[in-house]
Amino acid sequence: MMKRHNSAALPPSTGGEMHEETTGKADKSYKRPSRCSRLCSFLIIAAAFSMLACHCYDYAHGGVARVEHGPASSRRRGGSPFSDPAVPPRRDTGDRKVSADNEARELAAADARRRRELCTGQYIYVQELPSRFNTDMVWDCEDLSPSKGMCKYTANGGFGPRLRGGDGGVLQETGWYDSDELALDVIFHDRIKRYECLTNDSSLASAVYVPFYAGLDVARHLWGHNVSTRDAMALEMVDLVTARPEWRALGGRDHFFVAGRTTWDFRRQGDVDTEWGNKLFRLPAVRNMTAIVVEASPWDRNDAAIPYPTAFHPATDEATFFWQDRVRGLERQWLFSFAGAHAEDSKSIASNLVEQCRASAACSLMECTKGPSNQCDSPASVMKLFQSSTFCLQPRGDRYTRRLAFDAVLAGCIPVFFHPGTAYVQYTWHLPKNHTDYSVYISEEDVRRNVSVEERLRRIPPEAVERMRGAVVGLIPAVTYSDTSTKLESTVNDAFDLALWGVIRKVAKMRKRIAEGRAEDEKPEMYSWKYPLLGEGQKAEDPHEWDPLFAFN
Ligand SMILES: *[C@@H]1O[C@H](CO)[C@@H](O)[C@H](O)[C@H]1NC(C)=O
Ligand SMILES: *[C@@H]1O[C@H](CO)[C@@H](O)[C@H](O)[C@H]1NC(C)=O
Ligand SMILES: *[C@@H]1O[C@H](CO)[C@@H](O)[C@H](O)[C@H]1NC(C)=O
Ligand SMILES: *[C@@H]1O[C@H](CO)[C@@H](O)[C@H](O)[C@H]1NC(C)=O
Ligand SMILES: *[C@@H]1O[C@H](CO)[C@@H](O)[C@H](O)[C@H]1NC(C)=O
Repeated sequence: MMKRHNSAALPPSTGGEMHEETTGKADKSYKRPSRCSRLCSFLIIAAAFSMLACHCYDYAHGGVARVEHGPASSRRRGGSPFSDPAVPPRRDTGDRKVSADNEARELAAADARRRRELCTGQYIYVQELPSRFNTDMVWDCEDLSPSKGMCKYTANGGFGPRLRGGDGGVLQETGWYDSDELALDVIFHDRIKRYECLTNDSSLASAVYVPFYAGLDVARHLWGHNVSTRDAMALEMVDLVTARPEWRALGGRDHFFVAGRTTWDFRRQGDVDTEWGNKLFRLPAVRNMTAIVVEASPWDRNDAAIPYPTAFHPATDEATFFWQDRVRGLERQWLFSFAGAHAEDSKSIASNLVEQCRASAACSLMECTKGPSNQCDSPASVMKLFQSSTFCLQPRGDRYTRRLAFDAVLAGCIPVFFHPGTAYVQYTWHLPKNHTDYSVYISEEDVRRNVSVEERLRRIPPEAVERMRGAVVGLIPAVTYSDTSTKLESTVNDAFDLALWGVIRKVAKMRKRIAEGRAEDEKPEMYSWKYPLLGEGQKAEDPHEWDPLFAFN
């Protein structure tokens, strides 16, 4: 019954059914487990026994365990939240404890069994690193970016400063923050500390998390520093990590880290100071690892993209469901809208879209500007625009990807993409395989040929619009980094869960190839963008309509 909320996690073989589940009829039943959550939390606090919570959950709603395809975390999360070794159980030490000692012991054993069952194949080992590779950078946040004060963005576990509700109910009262993609390093680390299936035994682990804030590190040195300064900490991290026994098992192929930047900040080719970025992702050791970023390279295997953080970080499942209901029911006065700007690059279609939007009575335009008073950086302004639009145009700018695409999903606005590199070949762990389920694709070439975007959008039948919007709203949990600091349990797989699940599957596939004695890197790397799109029996070498868009020049 909860499938609707984690449909993006379905394995490719069942991906075709996805949109039925995202628009499914589960609307009436989806609140049930959360009601138990509340009951359970009450019991936990009242009785101060974590195991009791687990049992209550089992009896009342074994339903959660029936989610079959999602990451096991959805099942696991039905378990005791206190099985998480990183969070000490919030027990009160009152006298009630003694009287129920035996029962507690029994329940503890049951819980351990349950944890073993649910965590098998899900364990994460956290590599130890000195704090200068992570938390010290947050302490020294003034150094992080010369142009914008980063300290406020690393606050609240990386969510940034809280936003107040109001503004005509565009945002909710709680759960909204002024988040910056740069803090994703912090968000991920903070979250993994609370992950339910951490282990100290690396031989049990499905993947090894390296808590290196690669994005924050490179941000300090992108401007006005020589290449040796830019590379220094990356090289140091590699020395440390490759010297560890955990590295040897698979030559680091089970290791991963997270950076809230695009891959292009880490792929310097040569060693001249005028070249951009550091060379972290080109180091031989890091070529074995998985680097998680907000925009991955279409031609490299060692990185993977996860959603940009939006402003929404709900602390409860109810808040997520409430938000979904809200945006599903909105009256949308504009057929389409565009938050963007004229581009200097003559190849960019953004200018064309600005003109089309200006010329149409059905389009609302929000012009993004450079600098601190950019409306497009204001979650309230962006949400207001996207909540009043049926379609939201998402061309690429100076990068392939856009944070605003995730804001559109959050607002229940159907994204219109113009290049597959903006989402379809990027967020394959988080978005349905069939992009027509949840978005509209108009090629850049069509726009250059002056195709009318409005006309194209008007041609989509209302049932199809309804169906797509249902899918978009169903994707909201999958692109949300929720706040689990007070959460006792969750039935929703959020962006973090899906990312972790993606890494685990990637490592598992690699292990399988090794076990079968197949060359582990048999596939040509230049087709990395294409592999997730292939259907049964298709090969990367087969022609694809997007080949020219990713042609190697
Ligand atoms: C790992 O070991 C540390 C220190 O020995 C301990 O505090 C922690 O609880 C252990 N974590 C797990 C998941 O066993
Ligand atoms: C790079 O810059 C650092 C600090 O400014 C300096 O100490 C170092 O000598 C420079 N390295 C090179 C190769 O210029
Ligand atoms: C990368 O992995 C390969 C194959 O597992 C291994 O032979 C190689 O030594 C690894 N590279 C490093 C730098 O550890
Ligand atoms: C994607 O879904 C649409 C309907 O939404 C369908 O017509 C199309 O065949 C599907 N494409 C693939 C590759 O499954
Ligand atoms: C597209 O429209 C613009 C402005 O209306 C015009 O300058 C341009 O020549 C047109 N391009 C094509 C290919 O028709």
